[in-house]
Amino acid sequence: MGPQEIKPGIYWVGVVDWNLRNFHGYSQTYQGTTYNAYLVLDEKITLFDTVAWKYREEFMCQIAQVVEPEKIDQIVVHHVEPDHAGSLPYVVDRTRPRTIYASKMGEKFLRGRFSCQNWPLETVANGQQISLGKRSAQFAETRMLHWPDSMVSFIPEEKLLISQDAFGQNIASSERFDDWISWPELKREMAHYFANIILPYSDRVPKALEAIQSLGWDIQMIAPDHGLILQSHVADAVAAYQEFAAQKPEKKAVVFYDTMWQSTEKMAEALASGLTAQGVSVKLYHLKSWHHSDVMAQVWNAAAVVAGSPTHNNNVMPLVADMLTYMQGLRPKNKLGLAFGSYGWSGESPDIISRWLEQIGVEQPLDPFGVKHVPGHDTYRELVRTAESLAGHIEDKVRQARTG
Ligand SMILES: Cc1cc2nc3c(=O)[nH]c(=O)nc-3n(C[C@H](O)[C@H](O)[C@H](O)COP(=O)(O)O)c2cc1C
Ligand SMILES: [Fe+2]
Ligand SMILES: [Fe+2]
Repeated sequence: MGPQEIKPGIYWVGVVDWNLRNFHGYSQTYQGTTYNAYLVLDEKITLFDTVAWKYREEFMCQIAQVVEPEKIDQIVVHHVEPDHAGSLPYVVDRTRPRTIYASKMGEKFLRGRFSCQNWPLETVANGQQISLGKRSAQFAETRMLHWPDSMVSFIPEEKLLISQDAFGQNIASSERFDDWISWPELKREMAHYFANIILPYSDRVPKALEAIQSLGWDIQMIAPDHGLILQSHVADAVAAYQEFAAQKPEKKAVVFYDTMWQSTEKMAEALASGLTAQGVSVKLYHLKSWHHSDVMAQVWNAAAVVAGSPTHNNNVMPLVADMLTYMQGLRPKNKLGLAFGSYGWSGESPDIISRWLEQIGVEQPLDPFGVKHVPGHDTYRELVRTAESLAGHIEDKVRQARTG
């Protein structure tokens, strides 16, 4: 994909990573991604972000189609993660900019990752403005959204927010704007990104949005560093971020498990059946078929997490530990939970899961459910009743969240 003018004199010069399936080593993407960078032609030619090292040469070609790279005067580094700053040493070497702007933490991170010898680094503070010539750029620090160095830029003359990872989505496409896919599809990809990257910092999202509001930015276009640029769905995207960050529980349960000989799977199905009978929407995930990032993409707005494992060598099975470890790091809020699993003799797994859920802050109104060997008819019915009881608690939780 060649460069594309997104506003008069402002170009998308990113690259499309069509074939990426694993994003940053922990999140699955089924539609690849893009590394977006933006070039503003003004009295001072300014580049906002770069791309992953792997694409450094393609990136220089993108720039060269718009302007001779040596003419770049300044580079703004919003975030030092390698997908956006990886090719920076290569770009600095070839463009020799007069100034490289980053937040205070950004500067520290740049010095930590690169040698930065003779780089004209300059730190910018929250709310600071720099001149591009006819236009200007104002910065807002968005600490821990999702790194300590993260910041965003606003070009008031164009009403353009360059939002970095915020509002990003893993979508590779020849189109650059949000109007070629449906809003539900775009929102789903935005939620997948949020749930796997920004979720632990949910509390900071409303504060960051307020801080941006207090700067008086009239945002008409949001250009993130991954995926599509928002112009038709700016307000929808801001509302979606507020919704993701609130993690308001819906009448939905995510059931995940692993199994050796299908007893735990039968338990999962019995629980799912009891929940469904009570009108709870269920997502049922055998962890050998589903990636932990896809499960998290459903957990953020679920009222309940139901986790199962057979006891395996006095422990849980490895994929269940993987899922729980991953979920623990992402710190989901407002969840009810239930632990379950089949066993042969010592039967530790439901209790291990239960303790883990407790550490994650998941409230468990019911005891862990262990079944020796295979669940028979009576046990199956008992599991259905347990799920119905959990559905009652889910109902209460959803009602409280709506009224509270
Ligand atoms: C390699 C292996 C190790 C096991 N370790 C334990 C154990 O430490 N404690 C226990 O209670 N059961 C243990 N079991 C028995 C299983 O938990 C039991 O067969 C259970 O019903 C399997 O559930 P599943 O059908 O969901 O795989 C083990 C089974 C296997 C194959
Ligand atoms: Fe990032
Ligand atoms: Fe990124």
